[in-house]
Order: sequence, then structure tokens, then C-alpha cells
Amino acid sequence: MADARPFHWEFKPEEVGREVFRIEGGRRLEGSVAISGAKNAALKLMAAATLTGERCRFTNVPEIEDVRVLAEVLEDIGVTVDHPEPNVYEVASGDAEWLFVPLEAAAKMRASFILLGPLLTRFGRVIISNPGGDRIGRRPVNLHVDAMRALGADIEYRNGYYFAKAPGRLRGGRVTFPQITVMGTENAILAATLAVGHTIIEPAAREPEIDDLIAFLVDMGAEVERTAPNRIEIEGRRRLRGAQHAVVSDRIEAGTFVVAAAVTRGRVTLRNAPCGHFDALLGVMSEMGVSVSCGADTVEVDATGADLHPFRCADIETQPYPGLATDLQPPTCVLLTQAAGDSHVTETIFEDRLEWLGELRRMGAQIEIPDSHHATIHGPTRLRGVDVEIGDLRAGASLILAALAAEGVTTIRGAHHVHRGYEKIDTKFLELGARIERLAEGT
Ligand code: EPU
Repeated sequence: MADARPFHWEFKPEEVGREVFRIEGGRRLEGSVAISGAKNAALKLMAAATLTGERCRFTNVPEIEDVRVLAEVLEDIGVTVDHPEPNVYEVASGDAEWLFVPLEAAAKMRASFILLGPLLTRFGRVIISNPGGDRIGRRPVNLHVDAMRALGADIEYRNGYYFAKAPGRLRGGRVTFPQITVMGTENAILAATLAVGHTIIEPAAREPEIDDLIAFLVDMGAEVERTAPNRIEIEGRRRLRGAQHAVVSDRIEAGTFVVAAAVTRGRVTLRNAPCGHFDALLGVMSEMGVSVSCGADTVEVDATGADLHPFRCADIETQPYPGLATDLQPPTCVLLTQAAGDSHVTETIFEDRLEWLGELRRMGAQIEIPDSHHATIHGPTRLRGVDVEIGDLRAGASLILAALAAEGVTTIRGAHHVHRGYEKIDTKFLELGARIERLAEGT
């Protein structure tokens, strides 16, 4: 069994790239697990810190690859990033002198595009690579660019780069998105905080990580308010100050552990869990007959009676918050393989996000995928351990869940995808009684 690794700096990306997870399935998970800070909040908060020259301090930051990559990107443009202790980051961007976010940054992490808004509004110009797509489909950024233009930015696209300028300062305005976009909303908020005048963003995304960002911006002295569920208004300020913030807990990680407990017929308590941030998943669980109860910041899942009362099938459809998160679609699909009857899955947010179901099928799941947005899962099936390959972060975590529920040994290649967004996932599962180890590929 692998040793518990207390701190992610022990491994390098080139090493994790060669790692596999080896999981012996079929053990009930029992005990309690602490949920980490949310990746999709931490990245935006660190980007927001570039709106001021003063130092910002973040606690409850997840120790994950994506945070490390963003820290590197920030350092490359001249921002000071300190990491004084685990889960704490400090960002001071007194003099970001190199306003260029290169292709390497975008290739490693699409979320580096979140630097467009803050760098443009604070420094008046930035050159930033088009992040293109990844394994969950074409990932355009047209809505971010249109939002900046609505605030007066002058943006040209040449040779894979956006050359963005704000003549004078950005100007507040109306940003109207043709569809809900999480990072588009965040980029627009960040840009508007230092613009001249008033901005209205509508429809604005409602994800809890956006409200976490707003809370931090308000502490920095920004005037930002969600004035209606789908509307955010900002009054631009000339400058912002440094602030401290504890990153909101990760509802996607929490959902992943809830499903892990269910598929292993276990009993698990989540601590530091963002109750109320994943109600749509809890709704599906209760429809399926899984007992989940929420405390102030704990969630208890008890699936020990599931052998007597099999899970019921359910139909799911991903939606922007407060609907079922697309990031929770893969774990939910693993759960549905254990439910009696036919479940229908509709992925509405991303193209190709059902591709990973091919790997789940190799583990014995009975799944039809008539097109890239629909799947039917026939259950229950007994999953079996085989060799599978991870294509992206959420699919990777979900293959771990499938392996925990499966009979026999599963080897999962491409572990680095999981380290992008889950802190110490193997250690957390070990502590719940799983048999999971990380090995160098080929051993
Ligand atoms: N879209 C466009 N043009 C744009 C932006 C988005 O057409 O300029 C489309 C997308 O292709 C997609 C839809 O709009 O079909 C919604 O995408 P959204 O912009 O909301 O996604 P995002 O902001 O790029 C964030 C999370 C994703 C999460 C989605 C949806 C971060 C860093 N990423 O992406 O998280 O799936 O919202 O909730 O916050 C993950 O953590 O694994 C992950 C992929």
C-alpha cells in the first residue's frame, strides 16, 4: 500500500504524468473525510488578487495541480505568489510587468483565461492565448471576449492570441450573455470592478463559487452585488485593497465522496462540506433511495441497507446552478450503474462529456450512447476491475468510484488528470478503508 503523502509538492507534474492508480474494489467505505477548498473558486480568487497591488491572503486553498499551475503563470507575469504553509497562498501583484499569458499556460489549464478581465482592467492591456478545447469538447471563449468589448475593450485576435487593450479605463456597461457562462460571468465581474461607472451582467451564472468571489471582492473594497438571482451589478472603483479570504468548500469533491459512499454501500460523514450547494445531487440520491442528511457543515451518507433495498433508477439532466452540475454527471453515472432499471442521462452543458462512459462500459456497465448528449444506463450491473484510461479530471475521479465498487483490481492510467483538481484523493480514500495505491506506470 502506498504511504500517505501529506503534501502535494512532493511530486512533480512530469512524475504524476506517469502514475497509475491501482484499486482493489469491493470494500465498504466507512468513516469521515474533510472536504477541501473548491478548485473553481480558488483559481478565480487568485486571479482577482491581481486587481490590487496590495497583498491578498487565501486559506483553505486546495493543494492541487491547477492551483500550482496558476501560481506559476502569475509568477511568470511578475506577480509574487507565496505558499507559506499547506493550503495557504499569498498573492501580491504590485508590479506585473509582463502582461502576456502564453500558450503554455493555456495548454496546461484552460482556466488561465480568467486572467483576461483583471489584467486588462488594472493594467489596460494584456496578450493572452486562446485556450481552445480539451477532452470535454470545444471550449470557446467568445462570450468572455464579447463581455470585455461590451465594457469598451479593444480586442484583436491574431495567431492564436487575443491582443486586448482598454483605451483609458474600461467603461461600465450592460453585459448580456446569450447563454449562462460561469467563467464568462466571472471575467466580466472582475473587469467591471475597476471600470468607470456601472455594469449590469445578465443573465449571470449562479454558481456558489461566483458568490464566494463576490464576497472577496467586496472585502477588497469593490462594489459588487447580486441584485437578482441571475443579475449582478457592479459600480466601478478607482482602486481596490488587499484582503483575506477562506475558499468555499468544494461541492464537486463533496458530491464525489457522497457517491463513493453510496456505490460501496458504505457509511461516510463529510466534514467541512458545503451543505446546500449540491441539492440537485441530493435530490437524485433521495429519488434513488439513498439516505443522505445534511448538518450545518457536515453531510452523512448511509448506504449500508442498499443490499436489501436496491437503488432505484433515475433520469438526470445537467444544468447551470442550481441544477445538477455537469461536473457531477460522471459520478452520478457511476451511481446509476448500481440502480435497478433504465436511467436516462442528458448532458446539456458540454459536448463530448459522455465520452468517458466508454471506459465505464469496459468495466461491465451496460450503457447506450445514441449521441454525444444522451446515454441510457441499464442497471444494476456488477462492475469488474480492468485497465482503464482517464481522459479528464471528473471522469478520472469517477473511474476511481467505479473501481471502488468493482470486483477485482482496476488499474487507472492518467492519474495526473485527477491531481489537477482533487487534493490527496488517494489518501482520503485510504482513510475511509479503500485499497488504493499510486504507482509509477509500468510497475
Ligand atoms: N461557452 C461558449 N463560449 C464561451 C464560454 C462558454 O460557447 O465563451 C459555452 C461552453 O462551451 C459550454 C457553456 O457555454 O457549453 C457553459 O460553459 P461555462 O462558460 O459555464 O464553463 P466554464 O466557465 O468554462 C466552469 C468550470 C467547469 C464547469 C463549468 C460548468 C472553471 C475553471 N471551470 O467552466 O469546471 O464544468 O463551469 O459548470 O470554473 C471542472 O472543474 O472539471 C470543470 C470543467
